[in-house]
Amino acid sequence: MELDDIDTVGVVGAGQMGAGIAQVAAVAGYRVVLRDVDERLVADGFESIEESLARVVDRGDLDRAAADEVRDRITGTTKLDALADAEVVVEAVTEDLDVKQSVFADLAATCDPETVLATNTSTLSITGIASVVDRPERVVGLHFMNPVPVMAGVEVVVGEHTSAETVGLAHEFAAALGKETWEADDKPGFVVNRVLLPWINEGIRAYDEGVAERDDVDRGLRLGTNVPMGPLELADHIGLDVVLDASETLRAELGDRYRPAYLLKRKVEAGDLGKKTGAGFYEYD
Ligand code: CAA
Repeated sequence: MELDDIDTVGVVGAGQMGAGIAQVAAVAGYRVVLRDVDERLVADGFESIEESLARVVDRGDLDRAAADEVRDRITGTTKLDALADAEVVVEAVTEDLDVKQSVFADLAATCDPETVLATNTSTLSITGIASVVDRPERVVGLHFMNPVPVMAGVEVVVGEHTSAETVGLAHEFAAALGKETWEADDKPGFVVNRVLLPWINEGIRAYDEGVAERDDVDRGLRLGTNVPMGPLELADHIGLDVVLDASETLRAELGDRYRPAYLLKRKVEAGDLGKKTGAGFYEYD
């Protein structure tokens, strides 16, 4: 498979990440099939794409007519076999190995044997996900960052059996979506979450243990290290449940240095998951 052979991109999972991936693929000119398990979730995905495209139009990066064309290049579906013609499929379903393996087994049965099967997993093993696929050399990690339409980079993750051809195509495909790439071996957390999760948890502990007020922890990191968001606001942006779950996954593999902060667990228990629920470390309208 060559980059020029790609015409249709399948995306499995129409949540925040899947919708963002579908959007950038459609902006790049690909036909996109966006699949989720029920109509409501597909509709939510389209709503999030519409909102994001409206921001891109407001910024002047796309005119309204072009945004409408982008929208029209995306087809929503609840049927997995609608992805049969895709040359590349990116999976962005929930971070659960059983669920992802079941999606990959279905994709392997549905798609052409040459179709590249990418996973957007942030912490699970690419090799473990690929183990249910007949040709695991075509399985690769394409780890997009949130918000997908804004973030410049994508992490390409190489599993035990991923072929050099698939890795090369993953870099080229991400570049075709306007993203820069870096490469990571299939080790827990890859590069970004391996480094980011302890940083976030330590920021939460610094606040919880009274080193500084909430706002000063974030201001300190923002002004002191030139990042756009401090650890508490970034945790709210990612979702506290996602941060907790990813921290637990890495702790199981890498030990106690990934222990989630106590206050993170308490917020999740309280149902305060960050921006998406209206409250986390901060309050949102
Ligand atoms: N779609 C399209 N455009 C968007 C957007 C979206 N979903 N979200 C924000 N934007 C645009 C806005 O329209 C705005 O454009 P202008 O500057 O031209 O007006 C621009 O992005 C900035 O947005 P805002 O003014 O609303 O807010 P901001 O300046 O605070 O930026 C942010 C928001 C882009 C999220 C920025 O704060 C940021 O980059 N934060 C860090 C995000 C980050 O680190 N993400 C990675 C998380 S880790 C991860 O994803 C991996 C994992 O596995 C957990």
